[in-house]
Amino acid sequence: PFDWYVEMREHSPVRYDESRDCFDVFRYDDVDRILHDPETFSSDPRNAPGLDLPPEEERSPLLETMLSTDAARHDRLRGVVEEWFRPRALAGRRERLESVAAGLLDDAVAGGEMDVIDEFAYPFPVIVIAELLGVPSDERPTFRRWSETLVEAPDGRTPEAMDDHRREQQRVSEELSAYFEEKLDARAVDRRGDLITVIADAEAAGELSRTEALGFCMLLLVAGNITTTNLIGNAVRCLTAHPEALARAERGDARLEPLIEEVLRYRSPVQALARFATEEVEIAGETVAEGDVVVPWIGSANRDPAAFDAPDEFRIDRAPNQHLGFGRGTHYCLGAPLARLETEIALTGLFDRATGIERATDELVPVRSAFIYGVTELPVEFER
Ligand code: HEM
Repeated sequence: PFDWYVEMREHSPVRYDESRDCFDVFRYDDVDRILHDPETFSSDPRNAPGLDLPPEEERSPLLETMLSTDAARHDRLRGVVEEWFRPRALAGRRERLESVAAGLLDDAVAGGEMDVIDEFAYPFPVIVIAELLGVPSDERPTFRRWSETLVEAPDGRTPEAMDDHRREQQRVSEELSAYFEEKLDARAVDRRGDLITVIADAEAAGELSRTEALGFCMLLLVAGNITTTNLIGNAVRCLTAHPEALARAERGDARLEPLIEEVLRYRSPVQALARFATEEVEIAGETVAEGDVVVPWIGSANRDPAAFDAPDEFRIDRAPNQHLGFGRGTHYCLGAPLARLETEIALTGLFDRATGIERATDELVPVRSAFIYGVTELPVEFER
């Protein structure tokens, strides 16, 4: 998409797209302003009548989460689990994460080649979030299908394709909801120190409705896995395309923190967000009406030369790096500290076991999604 972003930032920084009925926004300053103004640019799709949401009783609990709500309700929801995701709370889990990564990597490197996505970048974050939540991680093929369906774009723009897509998403949402309904009920009697217990307790205390509690579990399961898979995959992809940086990283001669931030900027796993205008407002000279859908392209903002020096260069020690890969403002990614920790452990574990990593094929199949950016397979060869 990066050539398209250049064209858009230069010639149509804010443009109405008739086929999707939304305003796309491409420049860093405009995207940043939108994310900092949640009153005007709401995260709640109920503010966009044109979206034609299903009737209330058929709506997914995912609409009742912090991701899709604003202001006090958002803060109340986020507050229930915020503590769990702070770097200090996560530090105590480092060893367990390292041991999960080690188990997967020892198997994956055994043959001198591996598919980074399938054998490692996919299972690793799913096992981690399943353990945090307190659900069996051996159900991960199902988790994968659920998560992928929820981020997938329709297979074409025909009314049939759109209809199929909507039905499929609805079905997955119902399956997820039924799955967690059972888990929440079980936790009322069988308490464990996991996140589902925290959520079940908040429900019992009247802080969350049942729908909110369900949405919570669904969001945490889905938000943290495809995104982190693609951060790890995109990191390996960036490094194999930059052999000098890779050699430094493999030797342990590069700091991983800024490297990971640069991957978040350069190949952002989430490229686009959605906001809903609560009043008429102007963005860079274009008038957006109340109820309109606005799409801030963080993937484009992250390549804006007005915000970054040589934005199309991948620099593993870039500083400063005010990228928007985790969003900004009140909805700033709750899981950012976890995603960073997982990716650091993933890359360290990989470089401990493999050197001279090279892509085994030139072919890249992009993830089919309107907002997630990554590849579905990444076969590599290496020496052990
Ligand atoms: C929000 C990206 C990993 C949970 C967000 C947002 C972005 C993002 C861009 C902002 C959405 C918006 O403003 O509308 C990413 C990326 C990840 C990642 C790139 C990995 C590389 C995770 C993980 C978890 C998580 C591991 C948790 C297990 C959430 C939640 C929100 C969120 C709950 C909503 C926060 C709120 O509305 O206050 N993420 N995320 N994410 N993310 Fe992440």
